[in-house]
Amino acid sequence: MHPKSQSRHLFQQKYNKAPTLNVYAPGRVNIIGEHTDYNDGFVMPCAINYGTAISGAKRDDQVFNVYAADLNECDQFRLDQPIVPNPAKKWTGYVRGVVKFIQERCPEFRQGADLVISGNVPLSSGLSSSASLEVAVGKFCQLLGELPLSNTDIALIGQKAENRFVGANCGNMDQLISALGQAEHLLMIDCRSLETLPTPMPKDIAVMIVNSHVKHDLVTGEYNTRRQQCEAAAKFFGVKALRDVSIEQFQKRETELTALDAEMAKRARHVVTENQRVLDAAQALNRGDISRLGELMNASHVSMRDDFEITTPEIDYLVELAQSVIGKSGGARMTGGGFGGCIVALAPAEKVDAVRQIIADNYQQRTGLKEDFYVCTASKGVHQC
Ligand code: GLA
Repeated sequence: MHPKSQSRHLFQQKYNKAPTLNVYAPGRVNIIGEHTDYNDGFVMPCAINYGTAISGAKRDDQVFNVYAADLNECDQFRLDQPIVPNPAKKWTGYVRGVVKFIQERCPEFRQGADLVISGNVPLSSGLSSSASLEVAVGKFCQLLGELPLSNTDIALIGQKAENRFVGANCGNMDQLISALGQAEHLLMIDCRSLETLPTPMPKDIAVMIVNSHVKHDLVTGEYNTRRQQCEAAAKFFGVKALRDVSIEQFQKRETELTALDAEMAKRARHVVTENQRVLDAAQALNRGDISRLGELMNASHVSMRDDFEITTPEIDYLVELAQSVIGKSGGARMTGGGFGGCIVALAPAEKVDAVRQIIADNYQQRTGLKEDFYVCTASKGVHQC
């Protein structure tokens, strides 16, 4: 059952009445622009046809009573008392954190509710199940309390919850695309100005996602270390963020930076070149040049593998298999935070079966892990349903 029907159905079953408010927020896949968001740079994701639904209704008191259907777990907290983490259940952080920061923006928000949550974004796979939950909770609260918050506000509140409540120092890409995604479009986002540029998905081009089932976890160290290295590199260049360094400016001082800290230099090279690749990708898409877009995706993967060092052998192997079938007709790369999770491949629809097949024939045999293969559609961002 689709999460939208599932949450309604379970609410009805649990409370013996129909829910009065239903919202849905999608997960995302990033086509190009990785680890650029927290460097004030560019990204090009789309929302996908997997997401999180919430069905609910007002209560007469100031209690949030939340049922996470897929985990069969409950959480309860009061809106008229300070909202604190519930360390026994990690998922509750995404709900409590968002409500806490909604209240920080809209202190009048005290309306209690019963909520049933259900989603189908694969967890810990780099497809932003957590952002989709945060954005869904934010939208639910906004509609419940008729709060003056835009979808962009809701995204930024979600990011704040993740940074300050859950403790993952993520950028703003995942929440922004979950909030602002457009059907059949990729969205180039300027993560500094928050300007968005929608570009239609080229016709007959398939977006494939392959889950490596190598588990990643953002909260544990590596992500935050990369972020610190990028901030230190920006300091070296005397700028606010690496977004402000062009490839030419980087190259001029690359030897100097490498002598100072070779690892930091590689991290910065990834970010600086990746930002340019996103801008080039937007142009390639506008020309309908999928072959060039594919080249840029492949180059992005090499940069993540060799300079940012966030891929794993299993992920590199999946990318290699996909690229061997796709050739110059598209491209493939790891997508998301890294250290596991998914790859994304773009190619003419007639290549889907061959990509699926070569991975089915080889991946498990080599790695002992069984992949999941999805063909996605670029979908609409958060909405009432
Ligand atoms: C995770 C973070 C995002 C972004 C990506 C890498 O998904 O949540 O903010 O930094 O990693 O591009």
